[in-house]
Amino acid sequence: MAPIPQGGTVAVTGSAGFIGGWVVHQLLEEGYRVRACVRDANDDDKVGFLKAMPGYASGRLSLHSANLDEAGCFDEIFKGCQGVAHLSHVSTYDDMEYVKRVCDHVINSVNQSETVNRVVVTSSIAAVMSESDMQELVRRPVLYEDRYPDEQNPKRQANRGQGYSMGKVLAERAFADAAEESGRWDAITCCPGDNVGPILSAHQKNFGPWQHHIETMLLGQYSQNVIGAYRAWFTVDVRDVAEAHIRMLESVNVQNGERYIAWSTETRNVEDVCASIDRLLPELGFAGAELIDPLPESVQAKEAQFRAIWGGCDLRNDRICDTLGMAFRPLDVSIRDCVETLISVGGVEPVRRPGF
Ligand SMILES: NC(=O)c1ccc[n+]([C@@H]2O[C@H](COP(=O)([O-])OP(=O)(O)OC[C@H]3O[C@@H](n4cnc5c(N)ncnc54)[C@H](OP(=O)(O)O)[C@@H]3O)[C@@H](O)[C@H]2O)c1
Repeated sequence: MAPIPQGGTVAVTGSAGFIGGWVVHQLLEEGYRVRACVRDANDDDKVGFLKAMPGYASGRLSLHSANLDEAGCFDEIFKGCQGVAHLSHVSTYDDMEYVKRVCDHVINSVNQSETVNRVVVTSSIAAVMSESDMQELVRRPVLYEDRYPDEQNPKRQANRGQGYSMGKVLAERAFADAAEESGRWDAITCCPGDNVGPILSAHQKNFGPWQHHIETMLLGQYSQNVIGAYRAWFTVDVRDVAEAHIRMLESVNVQNGERYIAWSTETRNVEDVCASIDRLLPELGFAGAELIDPLPESVQAKEAQFRAIWGGCDLRNDRICDTLGMAFRPLDVSIRDCVETLISVGGVEPVRRPGF
């Protein structure tokens, strides 16, 4: 199918979110018209930053209330759009029937629009490497687009913490299949790594989870990453993820059903992320933070083993660099800008050494 035309109209679901907000911002910067989909367009705590964007004053950016749990919620919004960037979360990842149903809500609205050419579906690296058995990462350590978690493992169950990964794989396939069936539009998947970078609105400091982890560091205590025990952060700057979404909408080189991992391939252990704050911003006088380990003792005993397994993984981003010409910011830049906006936009008061 076709890429979106320059200056065309793009609907962005999850626009009030960390990544969605940046996609809106960068689409406007590049001259597009944007329909920002949020759950409540009157909730100014969440959408005030969108209303403050210059494009809102002219009408090039419009805001639309839509809850994807409701069938038909995007029908009117998508009509006249050429592109859709589907970034929103869903209400739960514990129920695959529900996840499929809400995918169908979006898909049906795309089909009904008769104008949408391309949908970018935001998945996750959890759809690449979330393993029920860590040894699977030893057997298949190369983390690239054609890799999926071991879907045959009997422990791959939503009630064993695999729902997010399962829901993302389900969504990727649901969109690609529907696009192929329609013959009118295509679906390209973006699998972002761990997003770090500047927040655009104070409420975004509570989500992430990565910017929230940095917020807790600034407040003096932080925890091991409970998403994957003792995994280092596999990072990407949120602005680079936004740019990747736009390049996927514009590209003439992508095909329906393809997925692109968006990460820089830079990795850093959580304690080193915390130590980076003082190294990057000595002026702050950051007092440092205490590392809390909430994981059960049986898991803590395996810390060295888990770190070694993750450390043996080979993170690849050749496909996104070659096909879309992406270049990624260094993590130091993302951490610095995250910290500065947590303070200036989020109102976070860091713990400081005496005299600062
Ligand atoms: N952050 C990361 O590191 C990361 C990494 C990999 C993949 N991802 C994926 O990237 C996407 C965006 O992540 P994010 O970090 O930007 O998330 P976020 O800041 O939590 O924003 C997600 C947005 O989803 C919206 N949402 C949730 N349930 C909804 C529903 N039922 N109907 C309509 N909207 C709903 C929320 O809208 P309202 O605010 O309007 O209520 C929220 O703003 C997600 O799909 C996530 O899985 C994120």
